[in-house]
Amino acid sequence: MQSILEQLESKRAAARLGGGQKRIDAQHAKGKLTARERLEVLFDEGSFEEWDMFVEHRCADFGMDQNKIPGDGVVTGYGMINGRLAFAFSQDFTVFGGALSEAHAEKICKVMDQAMKVGAPVIGLNDSGGARIQEGVASLGGYADVFQKNVLASGVVPQISMIMGPSAGGAVYSPSMTDFIFMVKDSSYMFVTGPEVVKTVTHEEVTAEELGGAITHTTKSGVADLAFDNDVQALIMLRRFFNYLPLNNREKAPVRPSGDKVDRVDMSLDTLVPENPNKPYDIKELILKTVDDGDFFELQPDYAKNIVIGFARMNGQSVGIVANQPLVLAGCLDIKSSIKAARFVRFCDAFNIPIITFVDVPGFMPGTSQEYGGIIKHGAKLLYAYAEATVPKITVITRKAYGGAYDVMASKHLRGDVNLAWPNAEIAVMGAKGAVEIIFREEKKDPAKLAEREAEYKARFANPFVAGARGFIDDVILPHETRKRICRSLTMLKDKKLENPWRKHGNIPL
Ligand code: HXC
Repeated sequence: MQSILEQLESKRAAARLGGGQKRIDAQHAKGKLTARERLEVLFDEGSFEEWDMFVEHRCADFGMDQNKIPGDGVVTGYGMINGRLAFAFSQDFTVFGGALSEAHAEKICKVMDQAMKVGAPVIGLNDSGGARIQEGVASLGGYADVFQKNVLASGVVPQISMIMGPSAGGAVYSPSMTDFIFMVKDSSYMFVTGPEVVKTVTHEEVTAEELGGAITHTTKSGVADLAFDNDVQALIMLRRFFNYLPLNNREKAPVRPSGDKVDRVDMSLDTLVPENPNKPYDIKELILKTVDDGDFFELQPDYAKNIVIGFARMNGQSVGIVANQPLVLAGCLDIKSSIKAARFVRFCDAFNIPIITFVDVPGFMPGTSQEYGGIIKHGAKLLYAYAEATVPKITVITRKAYGGAYDVMASKHLRGDVNLAWPNAEIAVMGAKGAVEIIFREEKKDPAKLAEREAEYKARFANPFVAGARGFIDDVILPHETRKRICRSLTMLKDKKLENPWRKHGNIPL
C-alpha cells in the first residue's frame, strides 16, 4: 500500500510540475502566474478539486509519443468562489505552450458538460499558443467541440473568459462566444491572424500588443470587457464580479444586503441636470448615488462611452444598469453603443437580472459613417434586446428622450414595467428647434417668428406630462427620491412572470 501511495504522490508531483521548473521560472519572469497558482487565487482557499490530472495526449507524430506531460497543458476542475460553485479550466503555458490537443479539449468539454448538468458557471483562464501543431486536424476537431459546448451553454450557465496570455487564430472564437472577456494588460493578446500574417497580407507593421492587446480590445474593438494590470488583480476582480451573477438561468443572483437604506434620498440629484438642456453632466454620478453603497461594477468603461453598462445592487439585489452618457456624443445612440448595450441587456435577461435604464438620449447619431456602417441594423439590436427581455425593467428618464431612441430605451411600449421621469424630462419626437424648422419651414426666413414657434413647441412638448397623460410614464418623480422609487419597484416586481411566445429562436438583426 505504501508504495502505491508513494507512486500516486510522485505522479501528482510530476503533474503539478507541468512543463518543468525552467518553464515555470520563465512564466514567472514574464510576470505571469502558473495555471495552478491562478486557480489558487480564483477559488476559495483549499476548495479546488482537480480532475483529469493524469490525462495524456495520444499523438505519436514528431516524437510526441516520447514527450507526454500528465494533464496535457490544462488544469480542470471545480471549486468555490465566495462559497458558490464554479467550474474552471486553466491553460498551462509551460506545457507545449498551453497548446490545445484533442485530449486537452476533452478535458475542457468534460467540465463544461458537468457544469451544465449541475447548473454552475464555467470560467476559462486562457493562456495558449492555439491548436497543438503536432496534432493537426485532431486539434481543430477539439476546438470545434469546445465551440459547440460554448454555444449550448450560452444562456444556460454564465461563461467567463480571462485572457492571461496568447489567444490566437481560431482559438479566439471560444472566448468570443462566452458572456464576458477580461484581459490582463501587457501579457495577453487576442487576434485572428498575428502581426507576421498582417504584414504579409496588408503590409501593415503592428506589434502583437497594438494588434490585440488588452488596451486595443477594451478601447478600439470592444471585444473585451475589462483590462487588468496583472494576474492577481484580474483574478481578485473576477471573484468580485462573480458575486453579481446567478449560477444558472433558473436561479436568481445572490442577494447581498447592505446597510444602505432603501429609502435613502440624495438631495444633490435635484441639481444634477443643468438648466441649459444642451449642457452635459455625468450620468455616472446618478448611478453611484442611486445604487447600494455607491458600488458600481462598470463593464467596457473605455469603449462606446456614450452608453454606460454594468452591474450594481439595489436593496441587495443584483441589477444591470444601462445609461446614456450625456458627456460623450451628447448621449446619442450609435452603432457601437447599441451593440454594447444590446449584448448586456440580453445577458441580464438570460440570467434573471433586472434591468435599470437611465435615459437621456437626443436620438440616434446622424451621418454617413453611421448609415453606411449599418446603424439601422445595429440600432435594431438594442431595440430587439429590450423588446424581447422579460426580466423586470425599470426606466428613469432624466432629461431627453427623443425620437426612435425614446422607444428603444426600455420604453413602456417595449413592456417596461415601471417608467418614471424627472420633472424636467423632455419626451418628444425631437428637440424643439429641429421640430419647428421642419413643420414651420416657410417661417424660416423670419427668425423672430421661428423663435416664437420654438418656445411654443417647447412649452407644449418639452416635458414629461404629454407622455404621462397617455400612461407612457407611470409617474413624474423628484430626482432625490430615485433610489427609493426604484427599490420599491424592484420589490413589487420580485415575482414577475412574463413569457414570450414559443419559437425555436428569434432572429435578432445580427
Ligand atoms: C505546439 C506550441 C504551440 C502550438 C507554442 N508551442 N505554440 N506547441 N503547438 N501551437 C510550444 C513551443 O514550441 C515552445 O515549446 C513552448 O510552447 C513555448 O513557446 P515559445 O514560442 O517558446 O513561447 P513564446 O516566445 O512566449 O511565444 C508564444 C507564441 C508562439 C507566440 C504562442 O509559441 C507561437 O507563435 N506559437 C504558435 C502559434 C500558432 O501559430 N498556433 C496555431 C494557431 S492556429 P518548448 O518545448 O520550446 O518550450 C490555431 C487554429 C485554431 O490555433 C483553429 C480553431 C478553429
